Amino acid sequence: MSIQPRLAAASAAARAKLGVPELGEMKRRGDKLSVVTAYDAPSAVLAEAAGVELILVGDTAAMVVFGHGSTLPVTLEEMILLTRAVSGAARRPLVIGDLPFGSYEVSDEQAVASAIRLLKEGGADLVKLEGAGRMASRVRAIAEANIGVIGHVGLTPQSATRLGGFRAQGRTAASALALFDDALALERAGAVAVVLEAVPAAVAASISERLAVPTIGIGAGPGCDGQVLVWHDLLGLSAAATPRFVRRYAELGEEIAGALRAYVADVRSGSFPESVHTYSIPDEERARFEAALAERRLRG
Ligand code: KIV
Repeated sequence: MSIQPRLAAASAAARAKLGVPELGEMKRRGDKLSVVTAYDAPSAVLAEAAGVELILVGDTAAMVVFGHGSTLPVTLEEMILLTRAVSGAARRPLVIGDLPFGSYEVSDEQAVASAIRLLKEGGADLVKLEGAGRMASRVRAIAEANIGVIGHVGLTPQSATRLGGFRAQGRTAASALALFDDALALERAGAVAVVLEAVPAAVAASISERLAVPTIGIGAGPGCDGQVLVWHDLLGLSAAATPRFVRRYAELGEEIAGALRAYVADVRSGSFPESVHTYSIPDEERARFEAALAERRLRG
């Protein structure tokens, strides 16, 4: 084979969709998984170019995209739409469609039906849901439908009110043990990974060591097998204060605000658009156009 087809094959392989087994292999090798949320196609392209393994179309969309005060109001239809935008653009990373509040709690059947919609209509590769206990049965049902499912324990924003607000979980021996049992129950039910949110680093590290599937931490310390951050937090796009576990890698909100202020000022002053931003018309066509207008004015 000449070099060109070999290069093409190598680049196609580099862009080939990751599989769930590769996530497990990464854990066994000690390679960390990078995960970020995204809610539209351009963001998915940027996330893929940066090398993330997984893109989560999170129900945080309720807050960062739709402007609600919690994650509860976002609907399955809205999540399907956002997931479709991301899955249409992401080639290599696995796209996780998040099951929103109200789309899986009622029964295993409801959970499977909602998961199927996220895959079929949204193009998701995997789905995620919050909680353990009865939710382990939802995970089992979805896994038995041959759908890769990710669990989510610790601070589960959909039940923040019941948990007493957005606060760290597992800070006593008893609650840490309960968290461990929950994570293990999800793994045994067939979860391919477990998100640990707002959990003490030591507890998350112990859980990560004991689970066979990867853990993905958010506010759960470096001992997790991967990390996830919300797009708007990571990039400094949210005006609201970010949780302590967020590192803002940019202040794009300020950049965008500055750019928009400059644009408004340029429009008002007439310094935008310039000739480079406009289209020309050949001189003879313009002369004919002006003559036709003059003619009309005469007649009018
Ligand atoms: O919806 C979301 O963005 C999430 C992450 C915070 C893990 O569930």
